[in-house]
Amino acid sequence: MKANSLQDLYLEQLRDLYDAEHQIIKALPKLIDAAQSERLKDALTEHLDVTKEQASRIEQIFDTRGEKPRAERCKGMQGIIQEGDDLIGGIKDPNVRDAAIIASAQRVEHYEMAGYGTARNYADLLDENEASQLLQETLDEEKEADETLTDLSEEINVEAEEEGGSEGAEEATEERRSSSSKKSRESRSKKSRAA
Ligand SMILES: [Fe+2]
Repeated sequence: MKANSLQDLYLEQLRDLYDAEHQIIKALPKLIDAAQSERLKDALTEHLDVTKEQASRIEQIFDTRGEKPRAERCKGMQGIIQEGDDLIGGIKDPNVRDAAIIASAQRVEHYEMAGYGTARNYADLLDENEASQLLQETLDEEKEADETLTDLSEEINVEAEEEGGSEGAEEATEERRSSSSKKSRESRSKKSRAA
């Protein structure tokens, strides 16, 4: 599609996001199956439900405009999902695989956050207030999902770092885990102080 106005660009972004959400709905069950950590499985399962809701929000936006929702292939999301598939499929260690699932899922979230931030901004400029609200809701959910993944990574990446699972190693993991989450808590509170 050739975009000749901000309105055209806006529609193009919505169609792209609509397609991206559908790609994610298709990809998430595979990640849920591949995950070992129950907490990671639960987080991804919850995000699958949220993603279905997000796709229907875009349908709602098209509906209000009296248009049929149309998807335009989001090649960026296709690439991110493909890259994640290639990476995860080749990993045997379940802890390392979980770390890779988080890495891949966070790339997805950040890509979506960029798309929704732009679309919400266009909706504001075009005085599409209801759409702006719906897009902001999704943007907030994507941020939340990203934060959940960051929290999970604090535990899972540490487990991935240690190989094997002797008792001594488990103690070391516990120690590193608490020092790693302490560090990230400190850096987060530093950031919020700076903000
Ligand atoms: Fe999404």
